[in-house]
Amino acid sequence: MNTNSLFQPFALKSLHIQNRIVMAPMTRSFSPNGVPTPDVAAYYRKRAEGEVGLILSEGTVIDRPSSSNDVNIPHFYGEQALAGWQNVINGVHAAGGSMGPQIWHMGVMDNHHSGWLPPVPFEGPSGLNRPGFNNGKTMTDADIADTIAAFGRAAADAKRLGFDCVEIHGAHGYLIDQFFWEGSNERTDQYGGKTLPERTRFAVEVIKEVRKQVGEDFALIIRLSQFKPSAYDYKLAKTPQEMEAWLNPLADAGIDIFHCSQRRFWEPEFEGADLNFAGWAKKLSGKATISVGSVGLSGDFFGSFRGESSEPSSLEELMRRMDRGDFDLVAVGRPILADPFWVQKIRDGRNAELRSFTKEALGHLVME
Ligand SMILES: Cc1cc2nc3c(=O)[nH]c(=O)nc-3n(C[C@H](O)[C@H](O)[C@H](O)COP(=O)(O)O)c2cc1C
Repeated sequence: MNTNSLFQPFALKSLHIQNRIVMAPMTRSFSPNGVPTPDVAAYYRKRAEGEVGLILSEGTVIDRPSSSNDVNIPHFYGEQALAGWQNVINGVHAAGGSMGPQIWHMGVMDNHHSGWLPPVPFEGPSGLNRPGFNNGKTMTDADIADTIAAFGRAAADAKRLGFDCVEIHGAHGYLIDQFFWEGSNERTDQYGGKTLPERTRFAVEVIKEVRKQVGEDFALIIRLSQFKPSAYDYKLAKTPQEMEAWLNPLADAGIDIFHCSQRRFWEPEFEGADLNFAGWAKKLSGKATISVGSVGLSGDFFGSFRGESSEPSSLEELMRRMDRGDFDLVAVGRPILADPFWVQKIRDGRNAELRSFTKEALGHLVME
């Protein structure tokens, strides 16, 4: 199969990458007390050695007292954690790779199974993670202003440490998405409202602050999902018109690239056309987009969390969409988590060497 269009360089502002493959952000929980270890640095460096075009870090949390529900998820603030990240980006650059951190605030969460809790209650637009599940406090105006500032500081630190771009995590039912979703945002002030554009205001303010901190020339990505982990088939934007009214304010605020999270990239976003989320986002916003979701694997990532294994699968449908220009980049999660050399195997047609994905890969940082 011809995979040439995956192996074309891509450049946008501060980003200059050798191919179109992005390592999807994947939480690993191997950073005790929020500090990325030398092993974490070695894990990312290996993916750069394996010629992944752009590495997006696992979600790394901003400087708010309850931005995380897991003591082993990395921070993107504080001297020690930032020194750990400096080590990560130095290693990736030394191996010829490019990388951006995914900056994250989880919002209102389920308590972690370890029993660890942050020092103060979780916070979100309305204390809700999903309809009927309140496990935190409703953010005040001061909380919101401080959170926006903390996103800005994290982005400024990313640039200062030498990262190539930054991704804001606006997907998967976490804080920013809790504002987007009417199921978790019951506010009646300027951060709430009946329409999606009204509930987009928090994200717009985060993006504007981040853009202010990093300047015009630094590439800024936002990750979005229509689905929620508690509602797989939910769509925030139910029509292309609603999607346009959601994305355009984000683009105007300073987003360069929309990272459109789907469980299965081949699923059409709306009836009447086979375009997926990234395809529509590019068409409607004119911005670059990243597609993702079960590329090269038979089963989706929620199945993996339930312990199901996935087998390698053909890239034919992906290449059809790439060649048609539906999206610019493609993110690959589990295959690269489980195999640092997946990109080279695809490029060289070494299909027999591709691995299945099993839950064992989640238990450690796979180095070879
Ligand atoms: C172990 C694991 C951790 C994940 N953590 C994150 C995360 O921190 N941030 C995020 O946006 N998505 C996260 N995801 C979702 C992936 O980025 C990706 O969208 C998903 O795995 C689908 O891609 P895949 O089918 O190629 O694995 C995670 C997925 C896995 C498997």
